[in-house]
Order: sequence, then structure tokens, then C-alpha cells
Amino acid sequence: MRLTIQDIKQMKQRGDHIAMLTAYDYTTAKLVEGAGVPIILVGDSLGNTMLGYESTIPVTMEEMLHHTRAVVRGTQRALVVGDMPFMSFQVDDKEAVRNAGRFLQEGGAQAVKLEGGGPVLAAVRRMVEVGIPVMGHLGLTPQSINQLGGYKVQGKTPEAATRMVEDALALEKAGVFSLVLECVPTPLAKLITERLSVPTIGIGAGPFCDGQVQVVHDMLGLFTDFTPKHAKRYAELGEAIKQAVAAYVREVSEGSFPTDKQSYSMDESLLEALYGAPTQKR
Ligand code: KIV
Repeated sequence: MRLTIQDIKQMKQRGDHIAMLTAYDYTTAKLVEGAGVPIILVGDSLGNTMLGYESTIPVTMEEMLHHTRAVVRGTQRALVVGDMPFMSFQVDDKEAVRNAGRFLQEGGAQAVKLEGGGPVLAAVRRMVEVGIPVMGHLGLTPQSINQLGGYKVQGKTPEAATRMVEDALALEKAGVFSLVLECVPTPLAKLITERLSVPTIGIGAGPFCDGQVQVVHDMLGLFTDFTPKHAKRYAELGEAIKQAVAAYVREVSEGSFPTDKQSYSMDESLLEALYGAPTQKR
């Protein structure tokens, strides 16, 4: 049985910390779920980690749906959240609801996430009304990078902090079941967490959020184009992959791979009867 948004909300009420992680493909999703992650976000960060774009701006609905389907196929228990890409929800509310619905209908996700506060409230309200669970996202919203002028911590001035608290409360009122806070100073994230009844999920927002989210490629050392301060490396899989591949290249060029262990045998006399004795033995 898959976890539901009610299970996630109850985690806050019980004081459980929520460990959310991104995944973008079948194999990783299976591993991530197997390790006990309750919420998997198919983040538009796949634009960087899977597709090699410089930002998340070019990511399309079709790309998001393609990866969401793969993650859903790799999971049975985790709540899968599809991240709405740039321009899939900003143009008008009808289009936003239709695209959110595609994540559930065509992608198989159980919820969507979308970035922003005031301007997205009406769309969020309508999504929730028609039965689409929504996760909010405030603070550093990478789809607005051109407006924000870079990947910077948000909410540091009194005006910005006040706006973020108001946006968080308004999103909760609009019906979000949880809220991502990205690159938000610890005291502000703590205050928002205390004021909301739905869980906050922080990334670069300190230890007082109800949950944490990391980009799986960052935490496993797979993506090294840039490493944000808030990313913690739990493994060096990039290095491990390089070493394994180099060993393979070496063994193939030396002729020591494959061995009998990786080969299939047959009765050689059968071939001899057809073609005569072999001319070359390895
Ligand atoms: O796209 C993503 O991976 C995200 C998380 C960093 C929250 O939005």
C-alpha cells in the first residue's frame, strides 16, 4: 500500500522527521524506496542531473512525465511527487490544473509540487478542489533564477521574511499538504515550521523543518558540476563508477575479460564436425 498525504501529515503530528529524496529513474527509485524513503520527488532538478541543462528552465512536461513514469514503476510504497516544470502552471490556472492532472493520470504520481507563493494560490486551490494533492515550494525557487539574480538564500530582509511567512500561511490555507523551504535562514524556517500544521521539508533550511530533502545525485557524489553548501555527500559513487569503468577498460584491453565465468560453453566437437579443428585457441 502506498503512503498517502494523510500519512505524511500525521508524521508531523507524531513528531517524526520526514526524509524525502529525489529520484528520476526506475533503478534509483527502487533503491531509494528500499532504503525506507517515504516521499520520492521527481524533481525538475533532473534538468541538471539527468539531462545536462544549465538550469531547470528548459525542462518540459514530456520530460517530467517520462521520468515520473519510470519512478512510479520502481516503487510500491513511497508517495511519488511530480515537480511541475517552468511554464506548465504559470500561464493560466486552467492549464495549470490540466498539467497537474497529467502527472497523476499519465505519470502515475500521487501528488505534484510547484514553486511560488501569491501568484500560484488560485491554481493550487483549484488543484486541491479537484483532488490533486499539492506540495508547495518557497524560498529559493530555481525556476525564477533570472528574476532572483542567482542561487541565493532568500528571506533575509524583514520584507522578504514577512512575505515568505504570509505566502506559507496562504499556501497552507489553499490546501497544500506540505511545503518545501529551499535556502531559507534557519530561524525563519523554524518560525514557518512552528506556524504551519502541514509539514515543512527543508533543503538548506536548517534542522528545525519537519523533514529534509536532498538531490540524490548530490548526496551520492554522482553530480559534481556544482555542489551547494547544503548538500551532504553520503557516498562517492561517481568515483566508484570511474574506478570500476577504468578496471573494465583495462581488462578488456589486456584480454583478461571475459573469463570462463562470464562465458557460455557448448560441445565443441559439434563445431569441429561442421568446420574442422579450430585454428586458434585463446
Ligand atoms: O527539483 C528538485 O529537486 C527540487 C528539490 C531541490 C526540492 O525542487
